[in-house]
Amino acid sequence: MTHKLIVVRDLARLRRQVAQYRKAGEAVALVPTMGALHDGHLSLVRAARRKAKRIIVSIFVNPTQFAPTEDFKSYPRTFEADIAALREVGADVVWNPPVEVMYPRDFVTRIVLEGPATAGLEDASRPHFFGGVTTIVCKLLLQCLPDVAIFGEKDYQQLKVVAQMAKDLNIPSRIVGAPTVREKDGLAMSSRNAYLSDQERALAPLLHQVLRDCAARIGAGERAAGVLAKGRKTIARGGFVLDYLELRNAETLAPATTDAGALRLLVAAKLGKTRLIDNIAVRRK
Ligand code: PAF
Repeated sequence: MTHKLIVVRDLARLRRQVAQYRKAGEAVALVPTMGALHDGHLSLVRAARRKAKRIIVSIFVNPTQFAPTEDFKSYPRTFEADIAALREVGADVVWNPPVEVMYPRDFVTRIVLEGPATAGLEDASRPHFFGGVTTIVCKLLLQCLPDVAIFGEKDYQQLKVVAQMAKDLNIPSRIVGAPTVREKDGLAMSSRNAYLSDQERALAPLLHQVLRDCAARIGAGERAAGVLAKGRKTIARGGFVLDYLELRNAETLAPATTDAGALRLLVAAKLGKTRLIDNIAVRRK
């Protein structure tokens, strides 16, 4: 029997549904997405399943996190296929608000963080991005009132920014990260991988290979500066235009030295018109 999935586009209806779950004593998890779902998203829904009885997946392509020069208009929209996949994986509600609900004409609020949102990573290349993300995620959390919200570690800085926002604003939802899902050749799954030509797709796994190689060397005690310089060259020679390859403190995202706390290696680079990001933990031997 296929799972009963409700598509909700009306806020009052969503609130009634959440209230019903709460009255029944059922924990609620939220998985925020922009649709164009792939196995990475479905793994977030499965992670949510392990934490709550009821799962809401939001699908909303959020205009305020795209700069005018970016791909808002062409961002893949695959609603029917998304619904079929979510039914299969056992989500309960798809929250698919119209833009007027998220941004009514007189909407003037923007939530802007410092700390992890100004770490000089995604924020340096996409200055508009986190203001758009935190504003929409704050709205989604207040609309769905989940016990837990699941975010992919692939967008590692986003995960840290959202967790900081929830903490700062006393939003009573636990923000949980879930591991990146990869293609067989290591490429991190992303809705934007659909933009890659066949030739670019063949080159794309290099990013993950460089991350793994750099993480292994730094983990084994090699000097990070030298390892990163070599990694940056390899990425550029592989046909990418690099935005950053950086070693950071895994919690604060501040620039890291090899002897400081848990470490994360993060990369962003453009391959043709497609911007890819990825990251990996550095484990010290
Ligand atoms: O990661 C995403 O898909 C988006 O940034 C999010 C969290 C759904 C906010 O629009």
